[in-house]
Amino acid sequence: MIKTRIVSTGSYLPENRLTNFDLEKIVDTSAEWIVERTGIHERRIGTKDEAASDLAYEASKIALKKAGLKAKDLDMIICATVSGDLPFPSTACLLQNRLDAVNAASFDVSAACSGFIYGLYLADNLIKVGARKRILLIGVDMLSRVTDWDDRSTCIIFGDGAGAVILEPSKDESGIMSTDIRSDGSMWDYIQVPGGGSRTPFSKECLDKKLQFVRMKGNETYKVAVKTLESIALETLEKNNIKASQLSLLIPHQANIRIIQATAKRLGLPMEKVMVNIEKYGNTSSASIPIALDEALTSGRIRKGDYILLEAFGAGLTWGSSLIRW
Ligand code: COA
Repeated sequence: MIKTRIVSTGSYLPENRLTNFDLEKIVDTSAEWIVERTGIHERRIGTKDEAASDLAYEASKIALKKAGLKAKDLDMIICATVSGDLPFPSTACLLQNRLDAVNAASFDVSAACSGFIYGLYLADNLIKVGARKRILLIGVDMLSRVTDWDDRSTCIIFGDGAGAVILEPSKDESGIMSTDIRSDGSMWDYIQVPGGGSRTPFSKECLDKKLQFVRMKGNETYKVAVKTLESIALETLEKNNIKASQLSLLIPHQANIRIIQATAKRLGLPMEKVMVNIEKYGNTSSASIPIALDEALTSGRIRKGDYILLEAFGAGLTWGSSLIRW
């Protein structure tokens, strides 16, 4: 069966940096605590004029340029986001308009930090069955917009960013070998934004109770993340008859350095084989994997023939992993 390959990547981070020292002035925390518990030193925060589609546009332009393609060559745009410009229409449609991608059917995918892997699953299968030939997949989030800057347990974690990939049918053995996705809605309240939806629409009461902001059961989430990431990674590897030791690089969702280290340890992978950039950007939700993939490629950490594993975990709860032969 034909495989789907990633033709090119692009990423975009807002220029504005928010350091741990800046956060010390906002909430009762310390730079050392943040580094020790999360691995994050700084994160990027979009200006008030920037929205998700603007970040996605910049990342997409780079991916298109690297692939030598025009926007009209795309036949689909999938945007993984939970912090799009508007409740509707989709950020993918706003991006389509901005890019002038006239031939692309466009829609968003909502799986929070696992959104990019969910999008990859969809794009890969649509290309494999021949339904689409060239898909632009973007992971973009601006969780700074739903951050309560008085809540020290969440405001230290998230950052804004976008990463984009272009997918096409592969001409050789390279490409996505398989992607697995899972969810468990019984833990829907582990990470959530309670207000602004049809359950609790925006109102003065909603704002007074700060329901428009993200709420997270950090400790509980942490424990589930470590367990599920190991099991889904092993499942994807076993399905393809590949051992963890054969991996050249693990590109995990950048949620917390301790989750990344624990997963690597459980898989028996040394940290040299793990892509980490959480110190610079924090948790950029659905953007973290495509940004890390773009940086890994740009810095020469991926070569033709390498086995690469992507894995993510997020609100829903959702999780997934994808094995790629480069
Ligand atoms: N600065 C200083 N102290 C803080 C703090 C901060 N920014 N945030 C929390 N604390 C305090 C807590 O109030 C608590 O104090 P207490 O013992 O007096 O009650 C103490 O630190 C420990 O809190 P806890 O929540 O157990 O810390 P933790 O080691 O679990 O770290 C997270 C908190 C959020 C960093 C961690 O749980 C985490 O990363 N979880 C996963 C979240 C995640 O991945 N979410 C996204 C999924 S995509």
